[in-house]
Amino acid sequence: MSVQFRSRQARIDTAAFNAAERLASGSTCGFAVVPWNGPIGAEVRGLDLTQPLSAAELLALADAWSEHLVLVFRAQSLSIEQHLAFAAQTGEILEGNQTSRSALSHQHKGILEVSTLTSDGQQKAKGLGSAEAFWHTDMSYKSVPPAGSFLYARSVPSTGGDTCFANMYLAFEALPSELAEAIVGRVAVHDESRNSAGRMRPGYADERDPSKTPGPRHPLVRTHPVTGRKALFLGRRPYSFIPGLSSAQSEDLLDQLWAHVAREEFAHCHKWAVGDMVMWDNRSAMHRRDSFDPSLPRVMHRTQTVGTQPV
Ligand code: SIN
Repeated sequence: MSVQFRSRQARIDTAAFNAAERLASGSTCGFAVVPWNGPIGAEVRGLDLTQPLSAAELLALADAWSEHLVLVFRAQSLSIEQHLAFAAQTGEILEGNQTSRSALSHQHKGILEVSTLTSDGQQKAKGLGSAEAFWHTDMSYKSVPPAGSFLYARSVPSTGGDTCFANMYLAFEALPSELAEAIVGRVAVHDESRNSAGRMRPGYADERDPSKTPGPRHPLVRTHPVTGRKALFLGRRPYSFIPGLSSAQSEDLLDQLWAHVAREEFAHCHKWAVGDMVMWDNRSAMHRRDSFDPSLPRVMHRTQTVGTQPV
């Protein structure tokens, strides 16, 4: 069954919602939601993601996701089909929009391999590899960025490669007043010409002037379509630009915003184990990844659900 993760108001009076509230509050029936020791994230215990979830479980999960933004399910043993089936219960799978050219992505249109290995087990020469990935929102260079990302760990290094998540509601609410005022009504251009490793995508010129960056314009503050809360929405730092400002003003304002969101008080890091499924809300959380030893394999599968245009 596909249950949309709808607004709280839309389902406020349903019996299932009340049952879901009890489940989500960590009581003994159903699953438990154990918050991480930080400003974002929770571990969900007691769910086997190979099995279809009931409507009450899905509603409880939607509430837990709205509250914690990042949910981890440990020790799952999922086929690719089960991974996709789990995500499909929370929204429409984003298909054919993945940038990977791997054989796996060709075979399973909704799956992207975030991997250091090629399909024949060799270390990859291209891609992000084992490098650090700085704070970002997945695919914000699209006019309709994904709602959720579902990353499943198949092989992880013993050290390094942790993924950290930052709560963009809290980052918005904690903005100093002069910064908050400076971004009222403003948008940023999200660079569509370079990939996450900074390489040019096919068909784009190597434009170095951020004021000429190609890509969609998204509001710097977006209102979450489910929770109604406001969150900072920055995308990626490189080649970002705020139209209506001079290059120097744009760089300065963006530097201040990025310094603000990178503060540790908004973030929590996840140390991966094989079998972890982590689903994060791409509309209200940013993430970054630590580097790791390039000789160690790290193989993750990601699927995403269709989002809405940020407003
Ligand atoms: C990503 O940035 O989407 C991947 C994060 C990770 O590899 O942990």
